[in-house]
Amino acid sequence: RKRVLSGVQPTGQLHLGNYMGAIRNWVNLQEQYDTFYCVVDLHAITAPHDPVELRAATRSVAATYMAAGIDPAKASIFVQSHVTAHAELNWLLECVTPIGWLNRMIQFKEKARKQGEDVRAGLMTYPVLMAADILLYQADLVPVGEDQKQHLELTRDIAERMNGLYGGKKWKKRGGRGGNIFKVPEPLIPPAGARIMSLQDGSSKMSKSAENDASRINLTDSPDAIRNKVKRCKTDSFTHLEWDNAERPEATNLLTLYQLSTGKTKDEVLSDIEGKNWGAFKPMLADALIAHLEPIQSKYAAIMADPSHVDDVLDKGAAAAAETANATLNLVKDAMGFVVPK
Ligand code: AMP
Ligand code: TRP
Repeated sequence: RKRVLSGVQPTGQLHLGNYMGAIRNWVNLQEQYDTFYCVVDLHAITAPHDPVELRAATRSVAATYMAAGIDPAKASIFVQSHVTAHAELNWLLECVTPIGWLNRMIQFKEKARKQGEDVRAGLMTYPVLMAADILLYQADLVPVGEDQKQHLELTRDIAERMNGLYGGKKWKKRGGRGGNIFKVPEPLIPPAGARIMSLQDGSSKMSKSAENDASRINLTDSPDAIRNKVKRCKTDSFTHLEWDNAERPEATNLLTLYQLSTGKTKDEVLSDIEGKNWGAFKPMLADALIAHLEPIQSKYAAIMADPSHVDDVLDKGAAAAAETANATLNLVKDAMGFVVPK
């Protein structure tokens, strides 16, 4: 079976962007593929972090995966740091990745600009660790939001470079398996919801790190909080709503949220909003979001009521993941000329 890997960082609260752009799309894949869903805790420490929050967020993200419909009987749900092959392959890949490739990463440039003086080496090499996450599982598909497209391209470049440098006939001559070391993965970016925008500014994406909590809808927000955030969200001075007018990013974003949370087609959405102004639309959107999140929230509460169950799932997931990951790691080590222990 083909393989799928993806992950979310345990930093801050998960929001609708994480859900619509990523997690929700993981659910169907578990029926058809071997799926690995990782809580990428090693990625969460590239900026100063609070250890207490990291530990709580790690379990909470795993519970959110399950609440969203990821089934531990079908998918391996695990914590990145539990499978030590991630950190190890990261080093091997860092040693073939040109610094120039990392300097070009938009996310690095933006975050480095914001962090000013205190930019750590890990922030720069972050996408190499992400490549290790993916390549260890020989993943065919990586379901992510739009913002990860460039990181996926880098992952593909690293995979091809490794295959060229150490794979193929030369590897066979050295007594190895020969052929490609890594599968070159494809991103899987959803047609709608791949880039959910801030409620306060339709030109910047909804993000965990934005200071204003009203700019995002957290998956754990209460119905009242959702209603208030929608009520106060940025609108424009046009009377009616419409899709895809470049001057009206807020309208497109909110219609997209409405569409995704009701499961309707664009045409059905258009007929729902016909003749309606912003004032009439907002309560419809709030109701749709609340109804969509309610089952996830109650499942989340039930799962979090028994944290030892979450830990059991993570133990089992790590064991399954480690088996696949270690097999790849040994292959890479062999191809690169390390003496691989029996
Ligand atoms: P992160 O919060 O950076 O760990 O992101 C986890 C996943 O959520 C990745 O697949 C991102 O591409 C996706 N994601 C994050 N923010 C958004 C957003 N505003 N819209 C759509 N997808 C997003
Ligand atoms: N960098 C991703 C993000 O910020 C998280 C991530 C880490 C990831 N490793 C991954 C996503 C592997 C997909 C596959 O969203």
